Amino acid sequence: MDEIVSLTKRRGFIYPTSDIYGGLANGYDYGPLGVELLRNIKELWWKRFIRTRKDMVGLDSQIILHPKTWEASGHVGSFADAVVEDMVTHKRYRADHLVEDWIKAHDEFKEMIVEELNIEELSAFIQKQKIVSPEGNPVSETKQFDLLMKTHLGSLTGEKDTVYMRGETAQGIFSNFKNVLDSTRVKLPFGIGQIGKSFRNEITLGQYVFRTFEFEQGEIEYFFDPEKENWEELMKGWKDAMWSFVVNDLGIDEKNLRWRRHTDTERSHYSKDTYDLDYHFPFGWKELWGVAYRTDYDLKQQMKFSGVDLRYTDPYTQKKFIPYVIEPAVGINRLLFMTLCDAYHVEKNRTVLTIKPSIAPYSVAVFPLVSNKPELVTLAEKVFDSLSATIHTYWDDRGNIGKRYKYQDEMGTPYCVTIDYESLETHTVTVRERDTMEQSGVKIENLEELISKNTQ
Ligand code: GAP
Repeated sequence: MDEIVSLTKRRGFIYPTSDIYGGLANGYDYGPLGVELLRNIKELWWKRFIRTRKDMVGLDSQIILHPKTWEASGHVGSFADAVVEDMVTHKRYRADHLVEDWIKAHDEFKEMIVEELNIEELSAFIQKQKIVSPEGNPVSETKQFDLLMKTHLGSLTGEKDTVYMRGETAQGIFSNFKNVLDSTRVKLPFGIGQIGKSFRNEITLGQYVFRTFEFEQGEIEYFFDPEKENWEELMKGWKDAMWSFVVNDLGIDEKNLRWRRHTDTERSHYSKDTYDLDYHFPFGWKELWGVAYRTDYDLKQQMKFSGVDLRYTDPYTQKKFIPYVIEPAVGINRLLFMTLCDAYHVEKNRTVLTIKPSIAPYSVAVFPLVSNKPELVTLAEKVFDSLSATIHTYWDDRGNIGKRYKYQDEMGTPYCVTIDYESLETHTVTVRERDTMEQSGVKIENLEELISKNTQ
């Protein structure tokens, strides 16, 4: 984990936010490489789940929605973690995480499933076992801690102006359901998807970009008529689509993936059934992507609180009803973090990120052999200009070729192209492939086809 964190900072994937002020608890910024990888992942998600499906449309709703949205959804009041406070340092910890860590050192409890404990049971267990904080101090009673972040609209502050930074992008989809019905030609079953930032007052941080206050979600609400569609079959279809995206589109090794079904106590208040697609992160198996059967809970609640009829009218039978919904919801930052972890390889003489070529931050790097020979630089610039019109191309004329290869390997760039003295005579360049490190001569006129064929 430390090596991955160090590489991602060293090469400009991820920086601690507000670094010059000593950082801000668990905030991260994405550097020149991170932003490219993030964009590639988002574009692929959008292509796979919105653009190439005739049963899906996209949306981009606000971060700040009408506060009633969150009362209706049940987030105000019940979107909370169980926390304890260290009685000496006053630091707060998630009660379930404290118990999980304690169990690791107490074999006799290793079969216990912490997710199954509710807040009272967690509290009783912590007291009975006299569990202390990571600093070794006694802890307070277990309390609820609201995850929704509050802010104020306008210049006056007061309860009247309190609004929330969205805790999930999903509610913007439910509150726009009628707009989409009225303005498009969709018919059930169909889904609405969006990518955007969400915010949560997380207690337990410190797992790098895995869990942050501010993060991006890619969420889909897939609406259907429960009398016509079998929700279990729809759920299976979405589970297959999620698995395929991770394995085939992002190139992740299947042995690092597994499905886990939520227990009855663990499931969110709105869900009848939930599965997590877990990835084996450096700190263990953790949720990457969830898929939940939310029934008609959200539309019913938004209809009740807004007073607006959110029912769907079947175009053939005129039957009016509230559609049911399956929700695949993923954190884009977790997809990126997983991609980096899975691609990280240390070999005898190098560190290399074997990111799938179609999502690598750059597809190719172009180098003149040396930077002080104008004729080499001019030809290399010509190659750069022609490739960069269609392919994301990096330019480097610093240091020697060995250093440049090392740098590109750590960036995950699938191809390096070197223009040398022979290139001036033969119009042939040296192409070096990232994973095999093999080098071959390629005619300049064939370069674009070769690289685009292998990086799309
Ligand atoms: N609309 C349902 C929902 O938001 P969730 O399981 O709370 O469900 C969905 O979140 C996904 O968002 C998670 O699977 C995870 O990938 C990501 N996510 C949730 N909290 C996060 C956080 N604090 N930091 C980064 N990603 C997070």
